[in-house]
Amino acid sequence: MKKIFVTGGAGYIGSHVVRDLGKKGYDVLIYDNLSTGHEWAVLSGRLVKGDLADKSFLDEVIKDFKPDAVMHFAALIQVEESVREPLKYFRNNTANAMNLLEVMLENRIKNFIFSSTAAVYGIPDKLPVNEDVPMNPTNPYGESKAMVEQMLSDLSNASDFNYIALRYFNVAGADSQGRIGQAYKESTHLITRALKTAKGELPKLLIFGADYMTSDGTCIRDYIHVDDLSVAHILTLDYLSDNGKSRVFNCGYGHGYSVREVVQAAKKVTGIDFRTEETGRRDGDSPALLADSSRLKAELNWKPKHDDLGYIIKTAWEWEKKLDTILNKCTGDK
Ligand code: UFG
Repeated sequence: MKKIFVTGGAGYIGSHVVRDLGKKGYDVLIYDNLSTGHEWAVLSGRLVKGDLADKSFLDEVIKDFKPDAVMHFAALIQVEESVREPLKYFRNNTANAMNLLEVMLENRIKNFIFSSTAAVYGIPDKLPVNEDVPMNPTNPYGESKAMVEQMLSDLSNASDFNYIALRYFNVAGADSQGRIGQAYKESTHLITRALKTAKGELPKLLIFGADYMTSDGTCIRDYIHVDDLSVAHILTLDYLSDNGKSRVFNCGYGHGYSVREVVQAAKKVTGIDFRTEETGRRDGDSPALLADSSRLKAELNWKPKHDDLGYIIKTAWEWEKKLDTILNKCTGDK
Protein backbone atom coordinates (compact mmCIF):
# COMPACT_ATOMS: atom_id res chain seq x y z
CA MET A 1 0.00 0.00 0.00
CA LYS A 2 1.43 3.32 -1.06
CA LYS A 3 -1.37 5.86 -1.39
CA ILE A 4 -3.17 6.92 1.76
CA PHE A 5 -6.21 9.19 1.92
CA VAL A 6 -6.37 10.90 5.31
CA THR A 7 -9.49 12.69 6.52
CA GLY A 8 -8.79 15.19 9.29
CA GLY A 9 -5.08 15.09 8.49
CA ALA A 10 -4.70 18.78 9.39
CA GLY A 11 -6.00 18.15 12.91
CA TYR A 12 -4.18 17.28 16.10
CA ILE A 13 -3.74 13.51 15.82
CA GLY A 14 -4.07 13.33 12.04
CA SER A 15 -1.21 15.78 11.52
CA HIS A 16 1.18 13.67 13.62
CA VAL A 17 0.28 10.56 11.61
CA VAL A 18 0.64 12.47 8.31
CA ARG A 19 4.12 13.59 9.45
CA ASP A 20 5.07 9.92 10.02
CA LEU A 21 3.47 8.70 6.79
CA GLY A 22 5.59 11.28 4.96
CA LYS A 23 8.73 10.05 6.73
CA LYS A 24 7.92 6.49 5.65
CA GLY A 25 7.54 7.55 2.00
CA TYR A 26 3.77 7.17 1.64
CA ASP A 27 1.93 9.25 -0.93
CA VAL A 28 -0.60 11.12 1.23
CA LEU A 29 -3.67 13.12 0.34
CA ILE A 30 -5.30 14.99 3.21
CA TYR A 31 -9.00 15.82 3.09
CA ASP A 32 -9.94 18.30 5.80
CA ASN A 33 -12.57 21.02 6.13
CA LEU A 34 -10.19 22.98 8.39
CA SER A 35 -12.91 23.48 10.99
CA THR A 36 -10.45 22.52 13.72
CA GLY A 37 -7.39 21.71 11.61
CA HIS A 38 -4.76 24.07 10.22
CA GLU A 39 -2.90 24.27 6.93
CA TRP A 40 0.41 24.82 8.76
CA ALA A 41 -0.04 21.50 10.56
CA VAL A 42 0.30 19.54 7.31
CA LEU A 43 3.97 18.60 7.24
CA SER A 44 3.79 16.27 4.25
CA GLY A 45 1.46 15.26 1.46
CA ARG A 46 -1.14 17.38 -0.31
CA LEU A 47 -4.09 19.07 1.37
CA VAL A 48 -7.51 19.33 -0.23
CA LYS A 49 -10.02 21.46 1.61
CA GLY A 50 -13.25 19.50 1.61
CA ASP A 51 -16.09 18.36 3.79
CA LEU A 52 -17.21 14.78 4.24
CA ALA A 53 -20.80 15.96 4.00
CA ASP A 54 -20.08 16.92 0.37
CA LYS A 55 -20.28 13.42 -1.02
CA SER A 56 -19.92 14.31 -4.68
CA PHE A 57 -16.72 16.30 -4.09
CA LEU A 58 -15.42 13.53 -1.86
CA ASP A 59 -16.10 11.03 -4.64
CA GLU A 60 -14.33 13.24 -7.17
CA VAL A 61 -11.22 13.54 -4.99
CA ILE A 62 -11.11 9.81 -4.19
CA LYS A 63 -11.65 8.83 -7.84
CA ASP A 64 -8.78 11.04 -8.85
CA PHE A 65 -6.36 9.95 -6.09
CA LYS A 66 -7.21 6.22 -6.08
CA PRO A 67 -5.96 5.47 -2.57
CA ASP A 68 -5.01 2.01 -1.33
CA ALA A 69 -6.25 2.81 2.16
CA VAL A 70 -8.22 5.44 4.03
CA MET A 71 -7.42 6.77 7.50
CA HIS A 72 -10.38 8.53 9.02
CA PHE A 73 -9.56 11.07 11.75
CA ALA A 74 -12.07 13.80 10.98
CA ALA A 75 -14.57 14.00 13.84
CA LEU A 76 -15.92 16.05 16.69
CA ILE A 77 -14.46 14.93 20.00
CA GLN A 78 -15.92 16.79 22.95
CA VAL A 79 -17.87 14.65 25.36
CA GLU A 80 -19.65 17.53 27.04
CA GLU A 81 -20.70 19.19 23.79
CA SER A 82 -22.03 15.84 22.56
CA VAL A 83 -24.32 15.64 25.59
CA ARG A 84 -25.71 19.11 24.79
CA GLU A 85 -25.88 18.70 21.01
CA PRO A 86 -26.17 14.99 20.23
CA LEU A 87 -27.36 15.33 16.63
CA LYS A 88 -24.26 17.34 15.73
CA TYR A 89 -22.24 14.26 16.73
CA PHE A 90 -24.40 11.75 14.87
CA ARG A 91 -24.24 13.98 11.77
CA ASN A 92 -20.51 14.70 11.87
CA ASN A 93 -19.18 11.45 13.23
CA THR A 94 -21.69 8.82 12.16
CA ALA A 95 -23.42 10.09 9.01
CA ASN A 96 -20.19 11.52 7.57
CA ALA A 97 -18.36 8.24 8.20
CA MET A 98 -21.14 6.50 6.31
CA ASN A 99 -20.68 8.90 3.36
CA LEU A 100 -17.01 8.06 3.34
CA LEU A 101 -17.63 4.31 3.48
CA GLU A 102 -20.15 4.49 0.64
CA VAL A 103 -17.72 6.43 -1.52
CA MET A 104 -14.98 3.93 -0.67
CA LEU A 105 -17.15 0.99 -1.67
CA GLU A 106 -18.20 2.66 -4.92
CA ASN A 107 -14.52 3.09 -5.71
CA ARG A 108 -13.56 -0.40 -4.51
CA ILE A 109 -11.22 0.78 -1.74
CA LYS A 110 -11.10 -1.93 0.87
CA ASN A 111 -8.77 -0.84 3.65
CA PHE A 112 -9.93 1.49 6.39
CA ILE A 113 -8.32 2.74 9.60
CA PHE A 114 -10.74 4.30 12.00
CA SER A 115 -10.12 6.66 14.92
CA SER A 116 -12.30 5.17 17.60
CA THR A 117 -12.26 5.97 21.27
CA ALA A 118 -12.18 4.62 24.80
CA ALA A 119 -15.51 6.39 25.18
CA VAL A 120 -17.16 3.38 23.48
CA TYR A 121 -16.64 1.44 26.75
CA GLY A 122 -18.64 3.79 28.96
CA ILE A 123 -18.11 2.69 32.56
CA PRO A 124 -16.36 -0.69 32.38
CA ASP A 125 -16.79 -3.18 35.25
CA LYS A 126 -13.14 -4.14 35.18
CA LEU A 127 -9.98 -2.15 34.51
CA PRO A 128 -7.87 -2.14 32.46
CA VAL A 129 -10.48 -2.86 29.82
CA ASN A 130 -9.80 -5.10 26.83
CA GLU A 131 -11.38 -5.10 23.38
CA ASP A 132 -13.66 -8.07 24.10
CA VAL A 133 -15.69 -6.06 26.59
CA PRO A 134 -18.93 -5.07 24.81
CA MET A 135 -19.32 -1.44 23.84
CA ASN A 136 -21.57 0.46 26.20
CA PRO A 137 -21.03 4.20 25.72
CA THR A 138 -22.45 6.70 28.21
CA ASN A 139 -22.48 9.79 26.02
CA PRO A 140 -23.44 10.67 22.41
CA TYR A 141 -19.78 11.14 21.45
CA GLY A 142 -19.02 7.52 22.38
CA GLU A 143 -22.28 6.39 20.79
CA SER A 144 -21.51 8.19 17.53
CA LYS A 145 -18.20 6.29 17.31
CA ALA A 146 -19.63 2.96 18.48
CA MET A 147 -22.21 3.16 15.69
CA VAL A 148 -19.43 3.53 13.15
CA GLU A 149 -17.64 0.52 14.63
CA GLN A 150 -20.86 -1.46 14.26
CA MET A 151 -21.16 -0.44 10.60
CA LEU A 152 -17.55 -1.43 10.01
CA SER A 153 -18.02 -4.82 11.60
CA ASP A 154 -21.14 -5.53 9.52
CA LEU A 155 -19.49 -4.33 6.35
CA SER A 156 -16.43 -6.44 6.98
CA ASN A 157 -18.58 -9.52 7.61
CA ALA A 158 -20.49 -8.90 4.39
CA SER A 159 -17.56 -8.32 2.04
CA ASP A 160 -13.80 -8.33 1.60
CA PHE A 161 -13.60 -4.90 3.23
CA ASN A 162 -10.99 -4.75 6.03
CA TYR A 163 -10.83 -2.24 8.82
CA ILE A 164 -8.85 -1.46 11.92
CA ALA A 165 -10.55 0.45 14.70
CA LEU A 166 -8.04 2.06 17.06
CA ARG A 167 -9.68 2.92 20.35
CA TYR A 168 -7.72 5.91 21.60
CA PHE A 169 -7.52 6.58 25.30
CA ASN A 170 -6.50 10.11 26.36
CA VAL A 171 -4.18 11.42 23.71
CA ALA A 172 -1.86 14.24 24.75
CA GLY A 173 1.59 15.71 24.12
CA ALA A 174 3.06 17.15 20.96
CA ASP A 175 5.71 16.63 18.29
CA SER A 176 9.14 16.45 19.96
CA GLN A 177 10.48 19.11 17.58
CA GLY A 178 7.60 21.42 18.48
CA ARG A 179 6.24 21.72 14.93
CA ILE A 180 2.69 20.52 15.61
CA GLY A 181 0.40 19.93 18.58
CA GLN A 182 -3.09 20.66 19.85
CA ALA A 183 -4.44 23.94 18.50
CA TYR A 184 -8.19 24.00 19.03
CA LYS A 185 -10.01 27.32 19.17
CA GLU A 186 -11.50 26.17 22.43
CA SER A 187 -9.73 23.47 24.44
CA THR A 188 -11.58 21.11 26.69
CA HIS A 189 -8.86 18.57 27.40
CA LEU A 190 -7.38 18.48 30.87
CA ILE A 191 -3.67 18.77 30.06
CA THR A 192 -4.18 21.58 27.56
CA ARG A 193 -6.42 23.47 29.95
CA ALA A 194 -3.97 23.03 32.81
CA LEU A 195 -1.20 24.46 30.61
CA LYS A 196 -3.36 27.34 29.41
CA THR A 197 -4.04 28.13 33.07
CA ALA A 198 -0.30 28.04 33.80
CA LYS A 199 0.19 30.44 30.88
CA GLY A 200 -2.38 32.80 32.35
CA GLU A 201 -4.83 32.32 29.49
CA LEU A 202 -7.43 30.86 31.84
CA PRO A 203 -7.97 32.29 35.33
CA LYS A 204 -8.22 28.88 37.01
CA LEU A 205 -8.48 25.21 36.23
CA LEU A 206 -11.82 23.69 37.16
CA ILE A 207 -11.65 20.16 38.53
CA PHE A 208 -14.82 18.44 37.39
CA GLY A 209 -15.90 16.23 40.26
CA ALA A 210 -13.97 15.29 43.40
CA ASP A 211 -16.47 12.74 44.70
CA TYR A 212 -15.77 9.78 42.40
CA MET A 213 -14.96 6.38 43.90
CA THR A 214 -11.30 6.72 42.94
CA SER A 215 -8.12 7.06 45.00
CA ASP A 216 -8.43 10.85 45.41
CA GLY A 217 -12.01 11.37 44.27
CA THR A 218 -11.13 12.71 40.80
CA CYS A 219 -11.38 10.89 37.45
CA ILE A 220 -8.58 8.66 36.25
CA ARG A 221 -7.44 8.50 32.64
CA ASP A 222 -4.80 6.67 30.63
CA TYR A 223 -2.77 9.44 28.92
CA ILE A 224 -0.97 8.33 25.76
CA HIS A 225 1.60 10.40 23.88
CA VAL A 226 0.43 11.29 20.39
CA ASP A 227 3.69 10.01 18.85
CA ASP A 228 3.15 6.50 20.28
CA LEU A 229 -0.38 6.59 18.90
CA SER A 230 0.92 7.67 15.51
CA VAL A 231 3.25 4.67 15.40
CA ALA A 232 0.25 2.39 16.02
CA HIS A 233 -1.36 3.80 12.86
CA ILE A 234 1.71 3.12 10.74
CA LEU A 235 1.79 -0.46 12.06
CA THR A 236 -1.84 -0.99 11.01
CA LEU A 237 -0.88 -0.21 7.42
CA ASP A 238 1.85 -2.86 7.47
CA TYR A 239 -0.66 -5.29 8.96
CA LEU A 240 -3.32 -4.62 6.33
CA SER A 241 -0.69 -4.81 3.56
CA ASP A 242 0.18 -8.29 4.81
CA ASN A 243 -3.48 -9.28 4.29
CA GLY A 244 -4.38 -8.80 7.95
CA LYS A 245 -8.07 -9.07 8.68
CA SER A 246 -10.36 -6.61 10.45
CA ARG A 247 -9.35 -5.94 14.01
CA VAL A 248 -10.04 -3.64 16.95
CA PHE A 249 -7.17 -2.41 19.13
CA ASN A 250 -7.00 -0.36 22.31
CA CYS A 251 -4.33 2.34 22.38
CA GLY A 252 -3.18 3.30 25.85
CA TYR A 253 -0.49 2.47 28.39
CA GLY A 254 -2.58 0.48 30.86
CA HIS A 255 -2.19 2.74 33.84
CA GLY A 256 -3.59 6.13 34.65
CA TYR A 257 -3.46 9.37 36.54
CA SER A 258 -6.15 11.22 38.43
CA VAL A 259 -7.04 14.79 37.58
CA ARG A 260 -5.22 15.93 40.71
CA GLU A 261 -2.09 13.97 39.73
CA VAL A 262 -2.13 15.59 36.30
CA VAL A 263 -2.45 19.01 37.92
CA GLN A 264 0.55 18.29 40.17
CA ALA A 265 2.60 17.07 37.22
CA ALA A 266 1.65 20.15 35.16
CA LYS A 267 2.70 22.44 38.03
CA LYS A 268 6.02 20.63 38.26
CA VAL A 269 6.77 20.77 34.54
CA THR A 270 5.80 24.44 34.17
CA GLY A 271 7.14 25.56 37.54
CA ILE A 272 3.92 27.55 37.95
CA ASP A 273 1.57 27.08 40.88
CA PHE A 274 -1.64 27.87 38.98
CA ARG A 275 -5.07 28.14 40.56
CA THR A 276 -7.52 25.23 40.64
CA GLU A 277 -11.09 24.97 41.87
CA GLU A 278 -13.23 21.93 42.51
CA THR A 279 -16.61 22.00 40.89
CA GLY A 280 -19.39 19.55 40.03
CA ARG A 281 -19.05 16.51 37.79
CA ARG A 282 -19.05 16.99 34.02
CA ASP A 283 -21.92 15.24 32.21
CA GLY A 284 -20.97 12.04 30.43
CA ASP A 285 -17.65 11.45 32.26
CA SER A 286 -16.56 7.94 33.17
CA PRO A 287 -14.84 7.70 36.59
CA ALA A 288 -11.87 5.75 35.26
CA LEU A 289 -10.66 4.45 31.90
CA LEU A 290 -7.52 2.36 31.49
CA ALA A 291 -6.49 0.44 28.39
CA ASP A 292 -5.42 -3.14 28.15
CA SER A 293 -3.31 -2.79 25.00
CA SER A 294 -1.77 -6.25 25.05
CA ARG A 295 -3.45 -7.12 21.77
CA LEU A 296 -1.80 -4.18 20.00
CA LYS A 297 1.57 -5.15 21.45
CA ALA A 298 1.23 -8.86 20.65
CA GLU A 299 -0.31 -8.63 17.18
CA LEU A 300 1.25 -5.46 15.75
CA ASN A 301 4.42 -5.44 17.83
CA TRP A 302 3.63 -1.96 19.17
CA LYS A 303 6.38 -0.71 21.48
CA PRO A 304 5.43 2.57 23.12
CA LYS A 305 8.36 4.89 23.86
CA HIS A 306 6.83 7.80 25.74
CA ASP A 307 4.98 6.27 28.67
CA ASP A 308 5.93 9.11 30.98
CA LEU A 309 3.44 11.76 32.10
CA GLY A 310 6.25 14.28 32.66
CA TYR A 311 7.43 13.89 29.05
CA ILE A 312 3.88 14.07 27.71
CA ILE A 313 3.24 17.32 29.58
CA LYS A 314 6.66 18.72 28.72
CA THR A 315 6.12 18.34 24.96
CA ALA A 316 2.62 19.81 25.32
CA TRP A 317 4.04 22.73 27.33
CA GLU A 318 6.81 23.47 24.81
CA TRP A 319 4.15 23.51 22.13
CA GLU A 320 1.69 25.58 24.13
CA LYS A 321 4.32 28.27 24.73
CA LYS A 322 4.86 28.86 21.02
CA LEU A 323 1.26 28.35 19.87
CA ASP A 324 0.24 32.02 20.08
CA THR A 325 3.12 33.05 17.85
CA ILE A 326 2.18 30.40 15.30
CA LEU A 327 -1.50 31.35 15.31
CA ASN A 328 -0.75 35.10 15.15
CA LYS A 329 1.67 34.61 12.30
CA CYS A 330 -0.88 32.60 10.34
CA THR A 331 -3.58 35.22 10.89
CA GLY A 332 -1.07 37.91 9.89
CA ASP A 333 -0.18 36.04 6.67
CA LYS A 334 -3.75 36.12 5.41
N1 UFG B 1 -11.21 17.66 33.40
C1 UFG B 1 -11.23 18.57 34.44
N2 UFG B 1 -11.10 19.89 34.11
C2 UFG B 1 -10.94 20.33 32.84
C3 UFG B 1 -10.92 19.38 31.79
C4 UFG B 1 -11.05 18.05 32.12
O1 UFG B 1 -11.38 18.22 35.60
O2 UFG B 1 -10.84 21.54 32.62
C5 UFG B 1 -11.35 16.22 33.73
C6 UFG B 1 -12.52 15.57 33.03
O3 UFG B 1 -13.70 15.73 33.77
C7 UFG B 1 -12.05 14.13 32.95
C8 UFG B 1 -10.53 14.23 32.79
O4 UFG B 1 -10.20 15.56 33.23
O5 UFG B 1 -12.31 13.49 34.15
C9 UFG B 1 -10.08 14.09 31.35
O6 UFG B 1 -10.87 14.94 30.55
P1 UFG B 1 -10.52 15.29 29.05
O7 UFG B 1 -11.53 16.28 28.57
O8 UFG B 1 -9.09 15.66 28.94
O9 UFG B 1 -10.69 13.92 28.30
P2 UFG B 1 -11.93 12.89 28.28
O10 UFG B 1 -11.56 11.74 29.13
O11 UFG B 1 -13.22 13.53 28.53
O12 UFG B 1 -12.01 12.52 26.76
C10 UFG B 1 -10.89 12.21 26.02
C11 UFG B 1 -11.18 12.51 24.56
C12 UFG B 1 -12.14 11.56 24.01
C13 UFG B 1 -11.80 10.13 24.38
C14 UFG B 1 -11.57 9.99 25.85
C15 UFG B 1 -11.16 8.60 26.19
O13 UFG B 1 -11.66 13.84 24.40
O14 UFG B 1 -12.12 11.71 22.63
O15 UFG B 1 -10.58 10.88 26.23
O16 UFG B 1 -10.82 8.48 27.53
F1 UFG B 1 -12.79 9.34 24.05
